[in-house]
Amino acid sequence: MFGIFKVSKTNELRSISQYIQNMNAMKSQIVFLVILLFFSSCQQKKSSSNQTSYESFRPQYHFTPATGWMNDPNGMVYYEGEYHLFYQHYPDSTVWGPMHWGHAVSTDMVHWEHLPIALYPDSLGFIFSGSAVIDWKNTSGLGTLQTPPMVAIYTYHDPEGERTGRIDFQTQGIAYSVDKGRTWTKYEHNPVLPNPGIRDFRDPKVSWNEVSNQWVMTLAVKDHIEFYGSPDLKKWSKLSDFGNAIGAHGGVWECPDLFPLKDSRGSARWVLLVSMNPGGPQGGSATQYFIGDFDGKNFIPQDSKTRWIDYGADNYAGVTWSDIPASDGRRLFMGWMSNWQYANLVPTQAWRSATTLPREVTLEKKDSEYELNFKPIAEIEKIQGDAKTVSGSAILDHPLSLITFDVTENAFVVTLANEGKEYITVSFQQGILSFDRRNSGIIDFSDVFPAVHKMDLGDIHVKKVSLYLDLSSVEIFINDGERVMTEIIFPTKPYDQVKLEKENPQMNISTITSTLK
Ligand code: FRU
Repeated sequence: MFGIFKVSKTNELRSISQYIQNMNAMKSQIVFLVILLFFSSCQQKKSSSNQTSYESFRPQYHFTPATGWMNDPNGMVYYEGEYHLFYQHYPDSTVWGPMHWGHAVSTDMVHWEHLPIALYPDSLGFIFSGSAVIDWKNTSGLGTLQTPPMVAIYTYHDPEGERTGRIDFQTQGIAYSVDKGRTWTKYEHNPVLPNPGIRDFRDPKVSWNEVSNQWVMTLAVKDHIEFYGSPDLKKWSKLSDFGNAIGAHGGVWECPDLFPLKDSRGSARWVLLVSMNPGGPQGGSATQYFIGDFDGKNFIPQDSKTRWIDYGADNYAGVTWSDIPASDGRRLFMGWMSNWQYANLVPTQAWRSATTLPREVTLEKKDSEYELNFKPIAEIEKIQGDAKTVSGSAILDHPLSLITFDVTENAFVVTLANEGKEYITVSFQQGILSFDRRNSGIIDFSDVFPAVHKMDLGDIHVKKVSLYLDLSSVEIFINDGERVMTEIIFPTKPYDQVKLEKENPQMNISTITSTLK
């Protein structure tokens, strides 16, 4: 940059006018430099007053894209020892834009390796959310029996169609990989499911259905779910509709998932997850679920109660991994840790958004009905250090990462703070758990972000609370996942102080400081 300031010697100037021209060019370069210095000093002041930098808030043990924008997790599938995570990604900016599928792999869902972008937008549109399966029997003919193809099923969103006022701009396409997800080929006859004339027609989640012996696609269609069946992932026909008169309807239905689950006594039910934006319990985006039966064609819910997978503001568009081996047997979930109310505004600079902790979903019978529990996967323990017990308040050497305690009374307040004046509180009183992020750190990027979020625990017996804290999030698990609250925060320094206020002197908390290995 400074190279362009080399001043030509007078004897090299061919004419007065050239001299004047050069002087003018130099003047405008100087003005430009002064403006640049002014803005960069403002920028520096701004970031030094907030004490934040390009990499501030980068989570220690949650997945984030290396750079650029991320929203929903997509195509989560397990194959040959690797957990694949694809995700809604815009590499050219930290705000939402033309969607690609970013890609990462992990052997434990905790340590991730970034891989090149898997799917780029093409003439049919942006690559919106969807799923991936291993086509073990090569029903699609896109691989072989020896090398079954990994097939991604996703929504094409045609921005041109949307701009010109058409309503059929979302269709479903497929792509396949025969090299463990490293390179992808789009199917030449896309789209495989055209649009029947509905604006919101997206986010296919596909799995092999043993009962009807075919692939079943669960699709979000505006205010309901549609199920489609296929013998080969290429030809799809409609099976049934579910949901326009049941569940929460404060917003558009998105990113569904359908899977069977057994309780600890071996009794099996079907689970349907449905994300919705807006209309969640804390405003904006959230995910509800239904439990019932699926006969290969129709979903019949056990009841008409609305249930949420998470009562916090920041767990959206989550679905479960496909093709987890039977020898593992877990149903593994991960969500996008943000909310469309402010996702594009959060104060990170290098990237935007993280995923939730991966969670194991279990089916629990409560009286005569079933509910889901979501607990952190066991692999998380690998990154935890030694526990310390704190009775009142303490300052720890390292950022906190896990705070757990057994609840022995009906009211308490836990405060996590940094050496500045930034803190969050988790309090419990009269059966209500409140999470207060009004003083959590940077909050002024959105009017709705600084808030107290409440979760009614009146119908459960609260025995244990676990707070998983990372540099820009806290995930609260009640009774190892009976209820969950996921929240993002932006403290300018990590919290290293913990305080427990309670009446019972016997009630202690156990703290584990951050030790990502
Ligand atoms: C959910 C969602 C999906 C869509 C994607 C676009 O967050 O709106 O319905 O496929 O994001 O990025």
